[in-house]
Amino acid sequence: MIRLLALLVSFVSLSAFPPGALAQSFPSRPIVMVVPFAAGGPVDVVARILGEPMRKSLGQAVVIESTTGAGGSIGVGRVARAAPDGYTLSIGHWSTHVVNGAVYQLPYDLLKDLEPVAMIGGNPMIVVTKPNVPAANLKELVAWVKANQEKVNVGTAGAGSSTHISGIYFQNEIGAKLQFIPYKGTGPAMQDLMGGQIDMMVDQLSNSLPQVRANRIKGYAITAKERSAAAPDMPTVDEAGLPGLHISIWYGIWAPKGTPKEIVARLNAAVVDALADPATRQRLGDLGMEIVPRDRQTPEALGAHQKAEIEKWWPIIRAANIKLN
Ligand code: MLT
Repeated sequence: MIRLLALLVSFVSLSAFPPGALAQSFPSRPIVMVVPFAAGGPVDVVARILGEPMRKSLGQAVVIESTTGAGGSIGVGRVARAAPDGYTLSIGHWSTHVVNGAVYQLPYDLLKDLEPVAMIGGNPMIVVTKPNVPAANLKELVAWVKANQEKVNVGTAGAGSSTHISGIYFQNEIGAKLQFIPYKGTGPAMQDLMGGQIDMMVDQLSNSLPQVRANRIKGYAITAKERSAAAPDMPTVDEAGLPGLHISIWYGIWAPKGTPKEIVARLNAAVVDALADPATRQRLGDLGMEIVPRDRQTPEALGAHQKAEIEKWWPIIRAANIKLN
C-alpha cells in the first residue's frame, strides 16, 4: 500500500514534466543514500568516500543515512518502497542484494523492485582475531579455534550478512561449531574485536585492514586467489592452509524500480565520475577495494551480475539452511 502510494505520488509529480525536462532539472535537492548497516562499517565508508565526488558531479549533496536491521534487509526495503524519483538510493553488496533474498522472507523483490544504477567494485574477506589470540598463522589459528570451539565468539553484521555467511563457510571448512554474535554492522563489531569482547571475524578487508596495519587486531589470510595490492604481505587462504575459501564482496548502487532512465543515467554518470577521480580511487584502493573497469560500471552490467549471482547463490544458501538467529 505504501509502495502504491509512493508510486502514485511520483507518477502525478513525474507526469507533470516531460522526461527530458525532468532529467535536466535533476537533481534539484540533496540525494539520500541509504546504508543498510551501522555507521563506521564498510558500506558506510564506501558511501562516504563516493558521496563527496558524487556531490561535485551532481551539484547536490549526497546525504548518507543508516537504516539498520535484519542483515541490511530493512535499509534496502526502505529504498524499494521509496518514490522512484532518484532522490533515495540504496548502496549495498553481495549479501544485501543477493543473499538476503534466500535467507529472509523479504517484503520486496531484489530484482523487480530495484533499478540498478552502477556497479562499484569489491573486496575479499580477511580472517581476523582480537589481538591476544595465541596464533601466529592461519594453521595455528584453526588449531586454536578447534580446541576452543565451544567458547569462540565470531562477530557478524546479522543473519545473512557477508560476515555471517563467511563465518559459516569458515567453520564448515575447518569442521568446527562456532558461536555467532550479531551486530548492526561490522563497524560496532570491530570495536568489540579490538576490545577483546569477541574473538574473531571473517570480515571485509576494507573494514579490517586499517586495524591490522595499526596492530589493533591480528590478520591471518584473505579469501582470494591472489594477494591484495593493499596488503601485499597478507597471504591468501590458498597459501595459508585453507585452499578454496574464496569470497568476494562486490558493491553496487540501486534506485527504486520505475526511476526514469534519464535520471538513472545521470546518477550512473555521477558514480562513474567519482570512480574516475584519482583521490577516490586511491582511498578505495588503500582499503583493498578493487574498482570494476569502466565497461562494468553500467546499470546493465550491475543488473546482469546481480541476476547471475542470485541464480548461483540462492540454491547454495538455501541448501545450507542458514538460521536467522
Ligand atoms: C557493514 O557495512 O557493516 C558490512 O557490510 C556488513 C558485513 O559485511 O557483514
